[in-house]
Amino acid sequence: MIKKYVYGKPYLTRSYSEDFKEETGEPFPFQYQKTEKGYTFRYPLKEKDKIYGLGEATGKIDKRGKRWISFASDNGHHEDDTLSLYSAHNFIVIDGETPFGAFFDSPSTVIFDLAYTNKDEIVITSEKPFTLYLIFNTDAYSIIKEHRNASGKSYFPALWGFGYGQSRFSYFNEKQVMKVFKKHQKYQLPLDYICLDIHYMDEFEDFTFNKKRFPDPKGLVTTLKDEGVYIIPIVDCGLKVNEKPMIKEGLEKGYFVKKEDGTPFKAAVWPGFTYFVDFFKKDTKEYFGHLYSFYTDLGIEGFWNDMNEPSIFYSELTKDLPKEEKKKGNPDFEGNGYFQDYSSFFHVIDGQNVNHYEVHNLYGGLLCEACYDGVDKLLKDRRGVIFSRSSYSATHRYSGLWTGDNSSTYRHLRLNFNQLLGLNMEGFLFSGADTGGFGGNCSRSLLLRWLALSLWTPLFRNHCAIIFRPQECYHYRKKKDFRNLLNARYQLLPYIYSEFGKAVLRDDILFKPLSFIFKDDETATNIDDQLLFGDSVMICPILNKEKTRKVYLPVSMTEVRYDGKNFKETNVDRGWREIKVPLNELVFYILPDKCVPVTKPCLHTKDIDLSDVTLIGSGTEYEQYLDDGFTKDIKESNIRVIKK
Ligand code: GLC
Repeated sequence: MIKKYVYGKPYLTRSYSEDFKEETGEPFPFQYQKTEKGYTFRYPLKEKDKIYGLGEATGKIDKRGKRWISFASDNGHHEDDTLSLYSAHNFIVIDGETPFGAFFDSPSTVIFDLAYTNKDEIVITSEKPFTLYLIFNTDAYSIIKEHRNASGKSYFPALWGFGYGQSRFSYFNEKQVMKVFKKHQKYQLPLDYICLDIHYMDEFEDFTFNKKRFPDPKGLVTTLKDEGVYIIPIVDCGLKVNEKPMIKEGLEKGYFVKKEDGTPFKAAVWPGFTYFVDFFKKDTKEYFGHLYSFYTDLGIEGFWNDMNEPSIFYSELTKDLPKEEKKKGNPDFEGNGYFQDYSSFFHVIDGQNVNHYEVHNLYGGLLCEACYDGVDKLLKDRRGVIFSRSSYSATHRYSGLWTGDNSSTYRHLRLNFNQLLGLNMEGFLFSGADTGGFGGNCSRSLLLRWLALSLWTPLFRNHCAIIFRPQECYHYRKKKDFRNLLNARYQLLPYIYSEFGKAVLRDDILFKPLSFIFKDDETATNIDDQLLFGDSVMICPILNKEKTRKVYLPVSMTEVRYDGKNFKETNVDRGWREIKVPLNELVFYILPDKCVPVTKPCLHTKDIDLSDVTLIGSGTEYEQYLDDGFTKDIKESNIRVIKK
């Protein structure tokens, strides 16, 4: 059951597809108060209550004890106690004797004190008008599914988006891109796409290719696509200030955000000064979405939307400030350390000038919606592949999400693991982190351990920042070890793709804590370094420097050890076990009476046959979601039962 409460006159976010009836009474079980800080909600926690959610937020899986400021922020130096990240995801579930969910549907800042100040009390404050949805059901898992059902179906990319992607800031020219492809081919490392970071552009301007360094983008895209490798260019949110027709059109039609005096606001990002599209205005989404035709005309079908918080390096106002001032982040928020200057620009909403702060959290997601609509029309009957850095709750309908600029450390590998449930609760099934870490030099062992985690995440991309050691798998010794883990992903794709399809259709999540299924097992309730993946699998990656780890099995299961080719199955009893996991192997578990479909190894998804599978595990049949991987016909009748 979902109950809706409205505070003030909030801007319509359209996060829930259905319009629920508005309640008038107290938002039980919260105690509500209007204070000078905004709208405040308190809830006394019981000793065993856990809190799940907050999407991509930092911290542990259980958010009890955490403070979080939901305010989309570019923060490339985040750690576990960071207060804001790229996205704003405001859905939590309090899991205890009387579980309930709460979605703070606010376009602006929401401050979550989840038993941080007072260890037994939740205090949540929304600064601006907003809508509160309270969800009541029998358990946390059912509450999550209800939220998923109300917020709409998750984005479903083309099958090739489930392959392995290689990226770097940046591959500087065509030759380097071809080298990445050829090296993967030479060492038989699977690959489905290569990402082009900002240096493919002419002076970092979107919708351009630098003619010297990329003289024949169409040729490059076609040559690689024929081999089964797609190109995904980055698209930054700011449009470079110049005299081009698309900019003239935007200015003439008033498509860009404005200063208080009505003149266009300029902010510097990678290309220097840029304009930001005012996605709240009519026609602007269509204008922006259609710009992607520049890429689709070249045969490009995948897009990587970046800097869409929006991130600002400096504005006209802050340009001439001394460096230290320019670098000052907003005092209220953490961020990339730059003066974001959000107070200087305005959107036009229903004919009114609205300061950006009032609706900040929606911006990144609206860009994704514009991109999705545009690409959807441009690619006609084919699915594309889209992922973004910033998003709001409900952006999952239009885009995948990657978790931004992480670091090459075991702490960030662990953080990646901890983010999986929250992201899924928000519907971001197509999500993943920069495998190997964005900032820092990634060691061989860290990359192998990270691959062993990321091979379960639908978005599986290795990405690394400009000044660090190359992070492509072929740069490390014993390439076969890397091949083993990439092979595991491709051999497991029938299962991963199928579980993804079922989760989309049934408003389910892919990653869940053991306690969602093994409710009465006290030990399982406290396990936070193992997760269930889909209906059949339990994953237990090694998230630190160790070679062994302890695993808890709430029931007897099939232990699967994969060595690069074969899935070796052993029946193991319930209880604790210590397992040794060499860097080049994958260990996971299959639940009793369940199966996992696996296929033969291949180098690209174009060569995969998702219907040619072997079932492993102790079950006898499996419910498989299967489609052609390209068309938009995603429906329940694509699910069929296959037997051993
Ligand atoms: C941002 C992105 C990162 C990208 C870089 C350059 O930091 O998060 O992924 O490589 O910009 O475009």
